Amino acid sequence: MPAGGGHAMVRHAVASVPAFARCAVRPHTPPAPTPRAPFTPEGTTVTVTEETAPLSHFERIGGTKSVKAAVDLFYDKVLADPELAGYFTSVDMAGQRRHMVLMLTVVLGGPNEYTGRSLAEAHQPLNIPLEHYVKVGGHLTATLTELDVPADILADVQAVLGQVQDQVVSGGDPAGV
Ligand code: HEM
Repeated sequence: MPAGGGHAMVRHAVASVPAFARCAVRPHTPPAPTPRAPFTPEGTTVTVTEETAPLSHFERIGGTKSVKAAVDLFYDKVLADPELAGYFTSVDMAGQRRHMVLMLTVVLGGPNEYTGRSLAEAHQPLNIPLEHYVKVGGHLTATLTELDVPADILADVQAVLGQVQDQVVSGGDPAGV
């Protein structure tokens, strides 16, 4: 008999007895695990209920404080880039950072309190070439990567970057002017 054949035969024999279906005894199945609240590393329990709403990206990264930190680092990189700094020489950077924080908050699924202009209104007069748009996108990606933003959130932000390209780049097809 081949190794393990005995088991297979036993199972087959049981399954083929018609009366088995009415028998109260069933083949052994492992008991269902007792539902338990998961343990956090600190040992405190959290209760997960069906009503728990999934966290937004905004909440997952830590809310406004984290978005502000990201925007500060992002504009530090942009202003340190000699190809980009010239765009911002006469721009009020405090207001700029504030508007970017509010916009990134919306992109991340947080509350919408954006009060600035549309992207097309703000950028079309600047005649931004694709090359500079790509550089700015690269600084944003580098910023979020440095801050250990989870990969799925980074991917969603990059998808939005692709969607708004035509509104920012000169000669695109700006929706929502
Ligand atoms: C990649 C996507 C981009 C996003 C999401 C974005 C976002 C913003 C936001 C929210 C504002 C503020 C608008 C307002 O205050 O009404 C703004 C303004 C501005 N952006 Fe961008 N931006 C992007 C790309 C770029 C690029 C590629 C450049 C330059 C190479 C640039 C240069 C500027 C400048 C100079 C202003 C100030 C315009 C002014 O005050 O007249 N932006 N941007």
